[in-house]
Amino acid sequence: MNETSQTILKPSGGSANFISVSDVSDINALVDKALTYKTNPYKDKHLGTNKRIGLLFLNPSLRTRLSTQVAAQNLGMETIVFNVDKEGWALEFGEGAIMNGATVEHVKDAAPILGNYFDILCIRTFPALKNREDDYSEMYINQFIKYAGVPVISLESATLHPLQSLTDIITIKESLLNAPLEMKDKPKVVLTWAPHVKPLPQCVANSFSEWINAWGETDFVITHPQGLELADKFTKGATIIHNQDEALSGADFVYVKNWSSYNDYGKMHSNDADWMLTNEKLKLTNNAKVMHCLPVRRNVELSDEILDGANSLVTKEASNRVWAAQAVISELLTLS
Ligand code: CP
Repeated sequence: MNETSQTILKPSGGSANFISVSDVSDINALVDKALTYKTNPYKDKHLGTNKRIGLLFLNPSLRTRLSTQVAAQNLGMETIVFNVDKEGWALEFGEGAIMNGATVEHVKDAAPILGNYFDILCIRTFPALKNREDDYSEMYINQFIKYAGVPVISLESATLHPLQSLTDIITIKESLLNAPLEMKDKPKVVLTWAPHVKPLPQCVANSFSEWINAWGETDFVITHPQGLELADKFTKGATIIHNQDEALSGADFVYVKNWSSYNDYGKMHSNDADWMLTNEKLKLTNNAKVMHCLPVRRNVELSDEILDGANSLVTKEASNRVWAAQAVISELLTLS
C-alpha cells in the first residue's frame, strides 16, 4: 500500500468498497488519477496481473459494462461478465427468507463463492421503484458487501451511481482545464430535471448531487418541477430553484436528467415538455456545456440540436467512464 492510495479511498473494516462518495477521502486526487490514466492508459498494465474482476448485472447496461471491462483490462486484469438477471438463478436477498417462491439461491450462499472466484466484485442492481424504504435500504448491494468478502464496486445501485458521478466531475474538471472560465471563483453547475416517457430512478441525480456537494468547487443549483424534490441527504448544500429559466441563468455546465418522485415514491408527477433543454434555453446560460449520463431519449429528454451541437459533452463524458473505473479499480488493487 503506498501513501498516496491511503488518502484517496477509505478502507473500512479492513477492506475498501466503492459504493458512494463516502468511500472517497480525496475526490481531486481520484479525478487527477483518472486523468493521468487518460493520458497514459497502460502505465499500470501489470498492476492487475493474475487478478480477476467479476461484473454482475441484474439490469441492462452499455457504458458501465464496457468501460469497466476496458478499464480492468488496461490494468492487466482478467474480466468476467455475468448477466445474473438472464443467466443466473433468481437470487433471494432477505435474511431469514422462507424460499418457497420464485427465488432459487440466497445471496449468502452465492456471494462467498463469487468472492472466492474474484478479487473485485462489481454489481449493477436497479431499484424496483415500488417501496422507497426497500430501495433506500440498498439491501441488494449491502448483502453482496456483507457476504462476498472482497471489495465491491457499485455499477449503479438502487439509489446511487458513483462511477457515473466520478466521471461527471472528471469531465467538468477536464473541461475547465482545457478552457478555464475567467473571473469566476466557482463555475455554476445546474442539474435540471427533464421529461421522460416512464418513471426513472433517482440514482444519477442523487449521486451527482452528493458528489458535487462533497467536491465543493462549484456553485451548485438544482431545478425541477414542484413535487420532484430529491432526498435532502443528497441535495443539502445546493440551491433549489423551481423556475428552470432562472436556474439556467449564467450556468457554465448544465446536467440534464429525468428522475421520478422521491416523496410520492416512483411516480412521474410531471412530463412537461417545456422542461426539455433547447438552444433557445441555452441562450440563458454562459454558453454552458451540456452533460447527460446516457442513454437518452432524443427529443423527449434532450433535443437533437443540443445533443448534436457544439456545447454537448455527452460523448466525451461517456468515454471518460473508462478512466473513472480505471482509477477506482487501481486504488482497490493497491489497497487489497
Ligand atoms: N450511464 C450509464 O450508466 O450507462 P449504461 O446504463 O449504458 O451503463
